Amino acid sequence: MAKLGILVGPHGRGSNMAAIIEACQSGRIPAEVAVVIGSREGSGALERAAAMGVRAAVIEPGEDYGARLLAELGSCDWICLAGYLRLLPSEVLARFPNRVLNIHPALLPKFGGKGMYGQRVHEAVIAAGETESGCTVHYVNEQYDEGAIILQRRCPVEAVDTAETLAARVLEQEHLAYVEALAKLLTPTTNRQTTSPPTPPPLHSPLFLALGLPLSRVLCWILMTVFGPLRVFGRSRIPRKGGLLILANHRADVDPIAIYLACPRPIYFMGKSELFAMPVVGSIMRAFRAFPVKRGEPDRAALKLAAAYTHLGNVVGVFPEGQLTEDGKLQPLKPGAALIVRLTECPVICCGLRRTDRIMPYGKVIPRPALGWVEVHWGEPRSFVKGTPPEEILGWVESELRHLSGEA
Ligand code: GRF
Repeated sequence: MAKLGILVGPHGRGSNMAAIIEACQSGRIPAEVAVVIGSREGSGALERAAAMGVRAAVIEPGEDYGARLLAELGSCDWICLAGYLRLLPSEVLARFPNRVLNIHPALLPKFGGKGMYGQRVHEAVIAAGETESGCTVHYVNEQYDEGAIILQRRCPVEAVDTAETLAARVLEQEHLAYVEALAKLLTPTTNRQTTSPPTPPPLHSPLFLALGLPLSRVLCWILMTVFGPLRVFGRSRIPRKGGLLILANHRADVDPIAIYLACPRPIYFMGKSELFAMPVVGSIMRAFRAFPVKRGEPDRAALKLAAAYTHLGNVVGVFPEGQLTEDGKLQPLKPGAALIVRLTECPVICCGLRRTDRIMPYGKVIPRPALGWVEVHWGEPRSFVKGTPPEEILGWVESELRHLSGEA
């Protein structure tokens, strides 16, 4: 069953939150509210959540706010904002592509945007002479109230309305709308999460590309020279422009660093979601715009996000074995590897890593000198025509990786 995390504001009543919890507990929404997160100890909404038997947590904005939110959201699948007034940190949006909802007390796109919350919205509706108002459930993106609309419910604006009387009428509709939207999104027969387009992912900022990337390359180079050194074969085969998918064998935790140094372009790595929950490793991965993939069944949301990056002309790095190899031998490839190739529809290049496990043998976390070359071998890029059978894609990737990693 889907798990929801609800984010409330410091002064919220928590009436939408309560409507969602109640609908989950009575089975009208097929989900469980795993946590309610507020920013102020003892706020009305948090006390109400605890009284309804839901875990309530306090996270104050400040340093590492996004990372702390992600840690508290843990295994949640969706986030619902209910009275939460901030923009969400980009790493939270990246971890929950098209999985963050908000409710706004007016008919967007009118009467939304920064500063439009609470009574101000209703005052503006009345001042504009509207005869109708209502509420909007929408996806959340990097802008206030601008994500795609999921549904709206309407109600009249009476000539005698004050902001208070209108707010009360709209609020009744809000409780119905939020429950209706969640039931619609989470009920399998009408589940739209597989068809809705992914939110464009946050890309590397110009500042990171200008400063962070060269600096981190120098640090990685020093690390690899001390422990490696690194030799790269076939670098000229890497297409210098356009979307590209890199598929690499996975021998050691230092593999992303070796690939990163061996590739002249910035890479958006897909990493297993457990790593993002680790305090230091998770923050580094997010800083490099790595994005999480859940293991087990193919994680379609993560695959779509990877496709979105490549469609924007970026390079995405994936370890198709899904985990480190214990004995250095290539493991069976995950079916998601073929799915990602089909979704991205861009050139694919395989990358064979040799002897990175000398620096970090399986199960060890402290690097040690490899006492010899560590190698990265690039294959020939290949484009697959639409509809290529998954077996053909996986067969090619496997033979490439065996050959490039020196196994065959
Ligand atoms: C609601 O009006 C909602 O539309 C807005 O914030 C308010 C929260 O109210 N985003 P409550 O705390 O859910 O009662």
